[in-house]
Amino acid sequence: MIEWMLLLAYESNYYVSRGRSISIASSSHARIGLSLTEANSVNLPIIPNAELASQKFLGRGCYGVVSSAKWNGRDVAVKYPLDPSQDPSNVLGIADPMVHAKFRKEACLLITLNSPYVVKCFGFTDKANGVVMECQPQGSLRDLLEQHWQRGKALSCVAAHKIQKAVANGLVYLQAAQVAHCDLKTENILLDDVMSAKLGDFGCAVDLTKPIPIKHIVTPKCKAPESWQSGQYSTQSDVFGFAVTMLEMVSSRDPFYQAESSMVPLEKWVVAGNREPIPKKCPESTAKLIQWCWAQKPNDRPTPKQIVEYLDKNPLDEEPNSPSCCVIC
Ligand SMILES: Nc1ncnc2c1ncn2[C@@H]1O[C@H](COP(=O)(O)OP(=O)(O)O)[C@@H](O)[C@H]1O
Ligand SMILES: [Mg+2]
Repeated sequence: MIEWMLLLAYESNYYVSRGRSISIASSSHARIGLSLTEANSVNLPIIPNAELASQKFLGRGCYGVVSSAKWNGRDVAVKYPLDPSQDPSNVLGIADPMVHAKFRKEACLLITLNSPYVVKCFGFTDKANGVVMECQPQGSLRDLLEQHWQRGKALSCVAAHKIQKAVANGLVYLQAAQVAHCDLKTENILLDDVMSAKLGDFGCAVDLTKPIPIKHIVTPKCKAPESWQSGQYSTQSDVFGFAVTMLEMVSSRDPFYQAESSMVPLEKWVVAGNREPIPKKCPESTAKLIQWCWAQKPNDRPTPKQIVEYLDKNPLDEEPNSPSCCVIC
């Protein structure tokens, strides 16, 4: 409940500042290729919910449940708020104004983004607060990793490298658009049938041209030290999340056990400079990149462009699942 109250505070802040500072919004949207009129009105198509025939469950997170659907003959994914009748911990109903504001805000931001590395938004439903998006049929990277972990395996280096590069390119795009994702983790990286990865879940994303709410709720495991300490979110704090994401990709089990088993709360643990161990068999170039990306000080981390350049210079050619590649020691 407290989380939702904070969100309401956030939403009010978001809409007020958006209304007041049209010129800032316009310049930010111009950078990402939108006309002034589109930027000011946030041209969000409203899609009749009745036109969407829900098909298959794709996944769920803390706030939403996502299913595939057919719309105008095309496959789409629709994110609806979690239904409290199915999840008793979710105390608010889908008709609640706070839920409406949160989901509409996500659709409004996502619709302004246009990159092959970010999931596209087609609109918002007239009922039930559905965010209608491009469908990434293989779901989240986390789902894929869990399938591997069940067999005690890590993702092949080739696949991991391809996904890392797509995510890094997504961050290059977001930096230019002055948007911070703020919740970069394997659950929010979405895959299609040929392992092309796109960034999804912009529910926590912020427009970097506007003040960031004091209480901004994001997933602890991908939260950078400066975000814990002073609520600072930036492209460089997304780079920290990228490091955590890479660590999961080179592990053959869920790597977050050190922090959890520690008696020190995660916040203090990370702020003190602690990090999960990198598997010994992780390719050296990847291990170096992880360490660079989770440097304590944001300015000591690479920019997204530097990450892309680094990945280009360090291709990983090993055969998928070769014994020398990405296997935890
Ligand atoms: N466009 C999409 N295509 C396919 N699966 C998706 C898509 N968007 C989300 N999902 C799946 O639904 C899950 C929850 O969606 P997400 O937007 O992360 O919700 P939450 O805000 O609750 O975390 C994701 O982890 C993923 O498994
Ligand atoms: Mg999510």
